Amino acid sequence: MRAIKSYSLRRSVVPAALLVLAACGGKPGGDTPARYGIGRAATSQEIAAIDIDVGPDGAGLPAGKGSVSDGATIYATKCAQCHGPKGEGMPPAYPAIVGRDSAGEKFGFAKDAKIAKTIGNYWSNATTLFDYIRRAMPHTAPGSLTNDEVYALTAHLLSANGLLPATAVLDSASLMQVKMPAAGHFVPDDRRGGGTVR
Ligand code: HEC
Repeated sequence: MRAIKSYSLRRSVVPAALLVLAACGGKPGGDTPARYGIGRAATSQEIAAIDIDVGPDGAGLPAGKGSVSDGATIYATKCAQCHGPKGEGMPPAYPAIVGRDSAGEKFGFAKDAKIAKTIGNYWSNATTLFDYIRRAMPHTAPGSLTNDEVYALTAHLLSANGLLPATAVLDSASLMQVKMPAAGHFVPDDRRGGGTVR
């Protein structure tokens, strides 16, 4: 019964699809133009504006620098309204970005899904914090921060999480030196599929 039903459904869908194709001027089975004549090539400036990925090893970090104290000031005006004045978060919508769940110090996340994953106990690379803030925050205006502001915010958050002294100034070289507590818990994913998938 079921097979017959789906067959009759398909019969009514196929002519409808053909009609749509005909209306668009295309023919089923190919014959598409090489160019549609719409859009334009992206400019190098447009590409540069979104070509901002930073690798875990720091590859792609831009020039610039920022201090922990500048970061604290920027944090108060651009981040605190969602993440709380001390980075404590406003659950459930806005994650805590300062502080650690002591239960997470042994990295038992796989056994207990309730342990909060934080910058201090879960993020494997400080460079990723820079990348994330630059591309995604503030949530309502991603991409609006200058590179110096992102360095300062990264410095402030690392310091507030006990990973940098309060007097620190971060640039690309010093950011790459920051060792995250969780770094040793991650391995590069070198699987190629098939039998190598563990
Ligand atoms: C309008 C609210 C809002 C503002 C303002 C905001 N954030 Fe966020 N932030 C969020 C939300 C929501 C998430 C979670 C996003 C997700 O999981 O996809 C988040 C996630 C983050 C995370 C990742 C946390 C984690 O461990 O997963 C960091 C780091 C962060 N924000 C930093 C900042 C910084 C720095 C600023 C200021 C420049 C900022 N945020 C401003 C809403 C906000």
